[in-house]
Amino acid sequence: MKKVMTIVGARPQFIKAAALNRVFRRDYDEVIQELIVHTGQHYDEGMSQVFFDEMEIDVPFAVLKAGSGNHGEQTGRMMMALEEVVLKEQPDAVIVYGDTNSTMAGALVAAKCNIPIVHIEAGLRSFLRTMPEEINRVVTDHVSTLLFSPTQQGIDNLQHEGMVQHDGAYSAVNPGVFLCGDVMYDNALYYGSREVVHPDVVALEGKRFVLSTIHRDHNTDDPAVLRSIVEALLHLTQQHDLEWVLPVHPRLRKNLELQPDLMNKMRNASHVHLIQPVGYIAMLQLERMSTLIVTDSGGVQKESYFAQRPCVILRSTTEWTEIVQQGRAILAGADPDKMTQAFETLLKAQFNDWPELYGDGKAAESIAAEINRLLHG
Ligand code: UD1
Ligand code: UDP
Repeated sequence: MKKVMTIVGARPQFIKAAALNRVFRRDYDEVIQELIVHTGQHYDEGMSQVFFDEMEIDVPFAVLKAGSGNHGEQTGRMMMALEEVVLKEQPDAVIVYGDTNSTMAGALVAAKCNIPIVHIEAGLRSFLRTMPEEINRVVTDHVSTLLFSPTQQGIDNLQHEGMVQHDGAYSAVNPGVFLCGDVMYDNALYYGSREVVHPDVVALEGKRFVLSTIHRDHNTDDPAVLRSIVEALLHLTQQHDLEWVLPVHPRLRKNLELQPDLMNKMRNASHVHLIQPVGYIAMLQLERMSTLIVTDSGGVQKESYFAQRPCVILRSTTEWTEIVQQGRAILAGADPDKMTQAFETLLKAQFNDWPELYGDGKAAESIAAEINRLLHG
């Protein structure tokens, strides 16, 4: 029996980890023990526990108390606490997902303890070093032993940084780079048909609405940028006779509370639905029910494609270049003119086919098989 330690901490990681956790439990129960360690980066019930419950993820082996804070402070707290667990448990491999501070903290601790690192969602780049996530991804990729990229673009990016596709032997100097599809697509298929009766979802049945999420630091932390996005969306939804549904991420809530007049404007607009963050299954339902999605989230961008809904991306670049190349998503940044143009173009567009871009729904199975090969030869 080999032991793997999965380190997660933020909402999208609980969701991604569910796919592999399911496959380990189903197919590798006798040979791989998975310990999930939660750094505590996200801690509100609706940002954390709800996913463990409804996606039936193993109860974490340890929940650390990293909490919120500046990058160095938060990452440092995570590393100190993670090192203790890693040294005590001596896992045979550490698995990390995506690009948050929890990802980089887990990868650095494992690297310093000479434990092989598996990075799932490797190779993605925005080429913006001002994004904290870009630093986290680059650092994590460069200390990982197995790198699983969901897209060919990710593989190309790793090749440009000197990493080559797998040639049979893994080591820190010869990492295994694999194209494997996207565990988020696995999940969208697996949980997509589940029913949950969420009152906020029921209340929207039969309505035409724009679904949006906003949480990037560059969109929320600058009051003028946030105001510009909110005012543009208030106007565009009203003008097109659409409701506006916004599950409010805690970072957005905190920043809206700093601009009470803006918050009141949203609360007083009868077509606006400010709701608490919802669970994953309700979110998939909202995505499918929506007319258009407007987001700065990486995960929600891709899910818009899975749900076959067009997407306005509130960023100037994206790691998920395929959906932009397919014309299903448009990069608008936080510029009201670009947002208006993207909004109107996508509302008018008719798309008949949505080619598969993210694998066949079995990414977690191929990742688990490769991890098993690393561990058992
Ligand atoms: C983090 C990730 C980001 C990811 C996002 C997913 C980093 C650098 N950023 O951003 O890549 O896209 O998660 O949602 O790792 N807060 C709460 N309750 C919580 C969690 C956070 O109130 O349960 C508030 C705190 O005020 C905190 C703020 O939200 O300061 C930001 O949280 P943090 O985890 O630092 O970053 P996110 O913006 O969530
Ligand atoms: N999500 C959710 N409830 C919400 C908003 C988002 O379950 O209220 C899910 C969404 O379906 C996707 C993931 O959270 O699977 C994306 O995470 P987030 O936007 O927080 O981070 P990012 O993907 O940008 O890192």
